[in-house]
Amino acid sequence: MTVETTIRAAITGVHGHLPDYVLDNAELARIVDTSDDWISERTGIKERRILKGEGLGTSHMAAEAVRGLLARTRTSPQDVDLLICATTTPDFVFPSTANIVCDMVGIRNIGSFDVQAACSGFVYALTIATQFIGTGTHRKIIVVGADKMSAIIDYTDRATCVLFGDGAGAVLVEPSPNGCGIHDTIIRSDGAGMPYLHQKAGGSRMPPTAETVGKRLHYVHQEGATVYKVAVARMAEVAVDLMARNKLTPESLDWLVPHQANRRIIEATAERMNLPMERVMMVIQKYGNTTAATIPLCLWDYEQQLKIGDRLIMAAFGGGFTWAGAYLTWAYERSVGRFA
Ligand code: ACO
Repeated sequence: MTVETTIRAAITGVHGHLPDYVLDNAELARIVDTSDDWISERTGIKERRILKGEGLGTSHMAAEAVRGLLARTRTSPQDVDLLICATTTPDFVFPSTANIVCDMVGIRNIGSFDVQAACSGFVYALTIATQFIGTGTHRKIIVVGADKMSAIIDYTDRATCVLFGDGAGAVLVEPSPNGCGIHDTIIRSDGAGMPYLHQKAGGSRMPPTAETVGKRLHYVHQEGATVYKVAVARMAEVAVDLMARNKLTPESLDWLVPHQANRRIIEATAERMNLPMERVMMVIQKYGNTTAATIPLCLWDYEQQLKIGDRLIMAAFGGGFTWAGAYLTWAYERSVGRFA
């Protein structure tokens, strides 16, 4: 929906966290029947990060990202008034990972909840934050996208295990300091996409049993070719809709910030927007598909290059199916103000 409130929300800081362990294509080729050539050519991925360590879940990475964000933006935990965590790999079915992260970083007595929209989760959560800022009820919201995909990936399935990695990215959302910020957002879904991308067991429909574990039903099931076609169509659709609604030409756009599932999907999206690849953020080669973390990790990686007023379009697609986008103007520069 077009944001027509008097208070414009803006991203005023970003921070990420990536686990130390690097799983490269050569190592994967020793685990399953694949090769660096196949993975690089079909997906653009060279390596991804894996969270190792007993007892460490998605909250560990999310909390690291949030701690860094609080430090960099000089924000006290007491001043945060809402935390939203987008994740498909929560630590537990309940309580929410957002709850746990708040406790880990010393944020207390505020609202916190998870958003589950697979790879579109970060843009969904950013949209919610935009509404809370827009109505004036909240002034400092943390949106964190975090996923430990390695927890639900079948490392005997070469068609999915090469794609995913672990990571987290967090942003601070506040009333705009200068008129720049989030101008428009779109969130959409189609539940008919469920059979093509889902986790079969572990939820209330098929609770975990020895049999479901034995049949390897607790892992990501993906029919890659179908998902690929819908992903290209929907990511491009949401980006082109945002351009039309906001009267943006390809020349007037500074950056596309796409969900990082496959380099070819990103290239096809940029092509349909008539945008050259120099203006497309790309971190898939280093991190793979980190699900809800890809977009904030892109912002973190490219933050030094972003200038006040830069025009960005975010576009995401994920399981559900879900898809989402946002048009924003960048509101700060790292070398200015509280980042000096
Ligand atoms: N190494 C070598 N060969 C492989 C591998 C691998 N890692 N994976 C698949 N193959 C083989 C297949 O077995 C198949 O062989 P066959 O022809 O003998 O049967 C062949 O490669 C072609 O398989 P395709 O699935 O047609 O390969 P494709 O070019 O479509 O690439 C991929 C597969 C990368 C998964 C692609 O379909 C894709 O990116 N899909 C979309 C992923 C996505 O966007 N997901 C949404 C977000 S995720 C989320 O929301 C959680």
